[in-house]
Amino acid sequence: MFCKAYSAAIHGIEGLIVSVEADVSDGLPAFDMVGLLGSEVKEARERVRIALKNSGFMLPAKRITVNLSPADIRKEGTAFDLPVAIAILAAFGHVCEENLGDYLIVGELSLSGKINRINGILPIVYAAKRQGFKKCIVPKDNAREGAVVEGILTYGASSLSEAVSILNGNSEIEPEHVDVSGLFNNSRTEESVDFSEVVGQLAAKRAIEVAVAGMHNILMIGPPGSGKTMLAKRIPTIMPELTFDESMEISKIYSIAGLLDQQALITKRPFRNPHHTITTTALVGGGASPKPGEISLAHLGVLFLDELPEFMKNTIEVLRQPLEEKSVTIARLNASYKYPAGFMLVAAMNPCSCGFYPDRSRCSCSINMVKRYLGRISQPLLDRFDISIEALQINYRELNTQKTPESSAQIRARVSKARQIQQERYKGQGIYFNSQLTPRTIKKYCHLEAEEQALLEEAFIRMNLSARAYHRILKVARTIADLDDSDRISARHISEAICYRSLDHKYWGE
Ligand SMILES: Nc1ncnc2c1ncn2[C@@H]1O[C@H](COP(=O)(O)OP(=O)(O)OP(=O)(O)O)[C@@H](O)[C@H]1O
Ligand SMILES: [Mg+2]
Ligand SMILES: [Zn+2]
Repeated sequence: MFCKAYSAAIHGIEGLIVSVEADVSDGLPAFDMVGLLGSEVKEARERVRIALKNSGFMLPAKRITVNLSPADIRKEGTAFDLPVAIAILAAFGHVCEENLGDYLIVGELSLSGKINRINGILPIVYAAKRQGFKKCIVPKDNAREGAVVEGILTYGASSLSEAVSILNGNSEIEPEHVDVSGLFNNSRTEESVDFSEVVGQLAAKRAIEVAVAGMHNILMIGPPGSGKTMLAKRIPTIMPELTFDESMEISKIYSIAGLLDQQALITKRPFRNPHHTITTTALVGGGASPKPGEISLAHLGVLFLDELPEFMKNTIEVLRQPLEEKSVTIARLNASYKYPAGFMLVAAMNPCSCGFYPDRSRCSCSINMVKRYLGRISQPLLDRFDISIEALQINYRELNTQKTPESSAQIRARVSKARQIQQERYKGQGIYFNSQLTPRTIKKYCHLEAEEQALLEEAFIRMNLSARAYHRILKVARTIADLDDSDRISARHISEAICYRSLDHKYWGE
């Protein structure tokens, strides 16, 4: 007897349908599994055999062969335990075979027959719906995650026997329900921090606004306690509000990383601040059974690297490629995976190991020590920051001012308008922000009149700028003009953009 169930594998952040065929025949009793299986899937054999027994299914000794196809996709993880058990039970006549074709089934089995949670339910259920499945059976603990997908019924089963009753139509279990639009609309606007809490720091706030408006990476340099971390944490609150599609895209990544829990949907822009001891794999993704790293968890939000020079050099250098491509490719022996990584990079650092350089009343680091400290940031990495600013300590008078600073909502309104201008300008060209402009498109969209040309030329010579710095000034000037709702890039816009480059010269120049 031969039976077929349907399941899914995760490839990158997409689910791919996998069919699980079980054949039972006479002959020497055996249980074989084939179909490009990772080690965890190979171990499914033992888990399934014992889970079947402990769930009360006494199967006659026969020759069982299970095949997972398509054969060219590597199957990893434990999600195939349940569909394998179900296909075998169907082949033995314990599960109504007719119903099998309607369901997509995933879940890890424990030896007792209990179904354990797995990662990646959201993209799996998404794929099932796209392929026309009407129903799916997932672990009970993941059911809310799957129920977010509309147009398909998601059943949560806590044990193998429960899954069997659902398939045979004699279970009381109802499909899981999540009020998706309610969930999305209610939690989207609550934020725990706001820019109105940051007193003073007008120059830093302005630079951050420009950075967010054009999705420019930003580096903040300043002494301890100057508010760098405080400013960075508030950056997601001035990014345009998440759309539902963006929320889904981020949630898929969190689902695969196993970070969704009962939350069902990510409704806020991510802010990730990995500690500087992080490993390269945890930062960019990968590992034995591949998982998205911090750069993908920061997708559509902010990746904040606090104390930038403390990170391991190699770890930081691998960021360069994803920063350009907005995605990361992880090559494995039998497969390669692509995860999205469209984050805004925000970094903070002290100018020296004591933190107070160039304030000589407090910093006693030798010039060589300062150079060595700053030298931990390589030129190519420095080049990835379109904007660098100094965060200066605010004084007592500023701290005690009565005026309430601008709120995040006020700043966000201006940012959103500038983003809209960019979207319209670059429609259909695969460009979304000014930071993505290339030298060729810069020529087209960042045209300067003679006066502004002269200004930039003067700065170019005075500050000994590189060609790269030149292009970055133009991109940032474009964003500043967009915030000003001005088609033309004026001298004022250029001058401000030049200011955001001056630290290269101050700290890293000769
Ligand atoms: N502009 C400000 N308005 C209100 N509070 C501030 C401001 N700047 C600093 N603070 C206060 O000082 C604390 C320290 O700031 P923060 O941790 O952001 O400094 P930092 O620049 O990251 O320092 P470090 O270099 O030591 O990491 C904040 O938690 C906040 O209470
Ligand atoms: Mg800090
Ligand atoms: Zn110092």
